[in-house]
Amino acid sequence: MQDIEQLFENNRAWADDKRASDPAFFSRLANQQSPSYLWIGCSDSRVPANQIVGLAPGEVFVHRNVANLVVHTDLNALSVIQYAVDALKVKHILVVGHYGCGGVGAALNDTRIGLVNNWLRHVQDIRDQHAARLAEIDDPVRRHDRLCELNVMQQVVNVCQTSVLKDAWEQGQQVCVHGWIYGLCDGQLHDLGVSAGCREEALDRFRDAARP
Ligand code: CO
Repeated sequence: MQDIEQLFENNRAWADDKRASDPAFFSRLANQQSPSYLWIGCSDSRVPANQIVGLAPGEVFVHRNVANLVVHTDLNALSVIQYAVDALKVKHILVVGHYGCGGVGAALNDTRIGLVNNWLRHVQDIRDQHAARLAEIDDPVRRHDRLCELNVMQQVVNVCQTSVLKDAWEQGQQVCVHGWIYGLCDGQLHDLGVSAGCREEALDRFRDAARP
């Protein structure tokens, strides 16, 4: 239990520290959140949303799952997107994958893990769609990383094709969807160049970016 006790100790120290530097910090946040960003990322413990982009509590709305997927029938992800866009009026949706993603690797190599393999079927659909291009990459690490990139690009398209984004854009709401990837080895974020402010733009960008 000592490791769990430690978490409460860490929490007390963190809260004290926050209050010391900004006495109104918690009372302000308790009244309202108005983040400009929705982060859709991988559950991987090495890719914490706030820390990577230097944002404080209250500044980024977060959804994470294995391999950062946006599946059209996933009520959880769709609810997060709907609340972020309709209620919080976020300006940017960041789909953030990471190189060396274990989920993507398992999908690529048909590694048997368990229940999660069913979830990763979505990544295998992307793998199979780009099978010819992926087969041209000799280096297995690079092939894995390329599928991580393609997966992010596809999820950007998936976000752009939700009824939530369709309705928001039809009503003239300004919200941009981005595809980024994070390097575990160097801590750097990379823009995959698929940012879109409407569905057509998303499809065009995806076509160009998925080709090389
Ligand atoms: Co991952």
